[in-house]
Amino acid sequence: MKLLITGGAGFIGSHVVRRFVNAYPNELVVNLDALTYAGNLSNLSDIEQAPNYSFIKGDITQKEFIANLFRAEQFDAVIHLAAESHVDRSITGPDAFIQTNVMGTANLLNAAVESWRTHMEGKRFYHVSTDEVFGSLGAEGKFNEATAYDPRSPYSASKASSDHLVRAYHHTYGLPIVISNCSNNYGSHHFPEKLIPLIINNIKNKRPLPVYGKGENVRDWLWVEDHARAIDVIFHKGRNGETYCIGGNNEWKNIDVVRLLCRLMDTKLGRAEGESAQLITYVTDRPGHDARYAIDATKLKNELGWEPTQPFEELLSKTVDWYLSNEPWLENVTSGGYRSYYEMQYSR
Ligand code: NAD
Ligand code: DAU
Repeated sequence: MKLLITGGAGFIGSHVVRRFVNAYPNELVVNLDALTYAGNLSNLSDIEQAPNYSFIKGDITQKEFIANLFRAEQFDAVIHLAAESHVDRSITGPDAFIQTNVMGTANLLNAAVESWRTHMEGKRFYHVSTDEVFGSLGAEGKFNEATAYDPRSPYSASKASSDHLVRAYHHTYGLPIVISNCSNNYGSHHFPEKLIPLIINNIKNKRPLPVYGKGENVRDWLWVEDHARAIDVIFHKGRNGETYCIGGNNEWKNIDVVRLLCRLMDTKLGRAEGESAQLITYVTDRPGHDARYAIDATKLKNELGWEPTQPFEELLSKTVDWYLSNEPWLENVTSGGYRSYYEMQYSR
């Protein structure tokens, strides 16, 4: 089995690559990643010498390159995670999201159809997507596999477009596919433009903690290793053509997550109780900010036996420990381009 994983140098992708390389020595894992600002090969330093792992630097928006790669490598399966993934960046610069998330996915689908045209049996194109395609919830209810699409940011619209293309290629060309839509992840190697690692980094450096609006928006947080485990079980056991929703069953208001991080880090850093919370700063809200996400993952539990790991506070504490003991990683990713991005995003 030769498996192509796209976006394997990113946050979730690196956890998926690590899991597959370690758990399946007979599956050859090829990691294709353009190494954008969000991609970092040091995320995979522990497995880069493994005999069943190889890395190719390449951009999924390059149609000919992707077609040639599939002809040369003869992949048996694809797990597609490569994407532009940050909502705020999609608001200031949507084009890259349309190019990578829509056109890049189309290039992979075309290459897979061409490569597998005469022998689709046993092949699998796994598309990793987000719960944001479903839009925004009110106070009640949860998203599930039957929820209608209602994307509301350029990021979520580009992911919704890619989901539609993947399903269309299944119905039109018989491409064997599976899709999962997951809630917000947290854990190690998370790029500090996203809420949890950004707040950890700012608490550590005693910088203001930017909370959008009133901090009352709700997210359903899932530990990234639980997501990687769900992807593993869906890849190996999920039914052809199906969609599976993945969530943490773990809803938190943003302000409560930020306060919890302040408490955890005051203790870990030997600061006075309440010291870090004084850094909380309410800032201009994200345009079109989705109010609440929550996933009903009953299908995944009933069909494939997957459930999230609890409790959140323990895993969040473990996550903080990882950032505090991996200072060079944090310094490396927050130098250079990160600083100008931060200025642009938070000085308005
Ligand atoms: P990330 O931004 O950390 O990583 C994305 C990776 O894709 C990076 O390594 C980057 O270099 C690579 N990449 C970007 N453009 C590329 C291109 N044109 N060609 C090749 N590689 C390219 O993202 P993430 O948070 O790990 O998300 C991974 C996937 O999971 C995405 O598809 C995202 O939509 C989805 N997802 C993320 C979350 C979350 O909470 N982070 C939740 C649900 C779904
Ligand atoms: O739901 C899954 C999605 O979760 C993934 O598809 C996306 O790739 C991923 O980035 C994430 O999207 P969010 O927009 O929910 O995540 P983010 O960490 O950017 O923001 C989480 C919440 O925190 C959101 O309500 C906005 C808020 N926020 C975020 C930042 C960066 C702040 O209040 N302040 C901030 O500085």
